[in-house]
Amino acid sequence: MKKLYLFGNWKMYLGHEESVALARDLKKQLSALSVKATMAIFPSAISLLAVKEELDGVASVGPQNVYWVEKGGYTGEISAMMYRQAGCQFALVGHSERRHVFKESNAEVRQKFEAVLNAEMTPVLCVGETMPERKDDRVEEVIEAQLRSAFMDLAWPKGRSLIIAYEPVWAVGTGESCDPSEAERVAAVIYKFVGALLDGVEPTVLYGGSVRSDNVAKYCAEPHLSGVLVGGASTKASTWLEIVSAVK
Ligand code: PGA
Repeated sequence: MKKLYLFGNWKMYLGHEESVALARDLKKQLSALSVKATMAIFPSAISLLAVKEELDGVASVGPQNVYWVEKGGYTGEISAMMYRQAGCQFALVGHSERRHVFKESNAEVRQKFEAVLNAEMTPVLCVGETMPERKDDRVEEVIEAQLRSAFMDLAWPKGRSLIIAYEPVWAVGTGESCDPSEAERVAAVIYKFVGALLDGVEPTVLYGGSVRSDNVAKYCAEPHLSGVLVGGASTKASTWLEIVSAVK
């Protein structure tokens, strides 16, 4: 049986007290569900340590974004290494909101990706096309460019895992999810590209974009998909627990 990943990205939806209360509630209810999946939550940076403490034993936590320089005069930034030292195992890199709202380029995503690897965390590299790119039949071209830029001239650390989240931009936070068979088709393409660009490295591919309890099991059942990265529906105990129960 394949290993399953359930990742929740809380984005900037929850204040500190709400984050801690949600984590506490989840811990109570998840312990009773005895979930087999690897679960990670990506809270806001300010609540990360408190959420980590609350979720101890049921889920790990990670950053939604990192900076690539380890330390220095970079007011307002938090480095990948600092998150590692705070006990994080996974880090999101290149989320579509970073790429599109904050105009992060493939080159910046690459520096963040490399910093996460150097900090000995597992990167969760988000890739995906916009709707105009899909309509122009450029899905594979866009994803290949995102992967190529992240991996170019990289000496892959032996034995390190790699997680790629396929998150079509038009499906993120819109309620319009990608058809599971189409997500599977793109996941297979991602496998092919990663294998070629990183000399046989096998990624774990997740799907993200309007995942809910009524579609999550379909994504998880696809052969090239090993789980989901959930935004909105991970920010409430009820909807997250429904998702967890649906794949249990
Ligand atoms: P969504 O977000 O589930 O709210 O569409 C997904 C994500 O941002 O990873």
